[in-house]
Amino acid sequence: MGSLLAGVAHELNNPLAIVMGRASLLEEKCEGTPELQGDARRIREAAERCGRIVRTFLNMARAKPAERRNVQLNDLARAAADMLAYTFRSHGIELQLELAADLPEVSADADQIGQVVLNLLVNAQQALASAPAEGVRRVKLASGIEARRSNREPRVWLRVADSGPGVPPALHEKIFEPFFTTKPEGIGTGLGGPSRARWCVITAASSAWRSAPPARSSA
Ligand SMILES: Nc1ncnc2c1ncn2[C@@H]1O[C@H](COP(=O)(O)OP(=O)(O)O)[C@@H](O)[C@H]1O
Ligand SMILES: [Mg+2]
Repeated sequence: MGSLLAGVAHELNNPLAIVMGRASLLEEKCEGTPELQGDARRIREAAERCGRIVRTFLNMARAKPAERRNVQLNDLARAAADMLAYTFRSHGIELQLELAADLPEVSADADQIGQVVLNLLVNAQQALASAPAEGVRRVKLASGIEARRSNREPRVWLRVADSGPGVPPALHEKIFEPFFTTKPEGIGTGLGGPSRARWCVITAASSAWRSAPPARSSA
């Protein structure tokens, strides 16, 4: 999907800049009429949001080509956990690491997989933030190796699961679509988590990467 969508996203930049510019001019011109000014502001804000989405997407699509090398998924998991330790603590979320001791290295792009893990953890944290206050707030980051099956190589897996409400069944497929988000403006982009995980699998990262099943975990 990379190059085609990146081209489209790039083409959107110019018309978006016009919409934003004209909307702010209009906003100024409507100084004396609050109702019209409010409409112009809403148009400008919506266009700015489009701009943010396009930028995020272009960053994602332009990301340097995947560089595969042998990586230890447990190290990536620990690094992501370290990075979010403070955020989790300050939200009263317990982060459990259950990393398999004997995990073999896999051939993957460490930056891309690391970002996916980070984004899945952020998703978990956001899901728990909107969960009822009384329940336990726990996120489990686990890794392991799938038993060898006769017809294929064993696979290494990494899973992020949270004790939040989970992904509603009706959304199980949708969350893998780029730009799908249920979060408010400024928070959700629909680009960081599940769709990115799938994108990594398709375009680059690793045959050993398997995204978590959405039904039971944060996907
Ligand atoms: N851990 C989770 N628990 C519940 N819903 C989730 C979780 N992770 C993702 N989702 C759902 O999937 C959607 C898409 O996720 P994502 O692609 O990361 O975009 P974003 O986080 O920017 O909304 C989210 O808006 C949310 O509805
Ligand atoms: Mg997300």
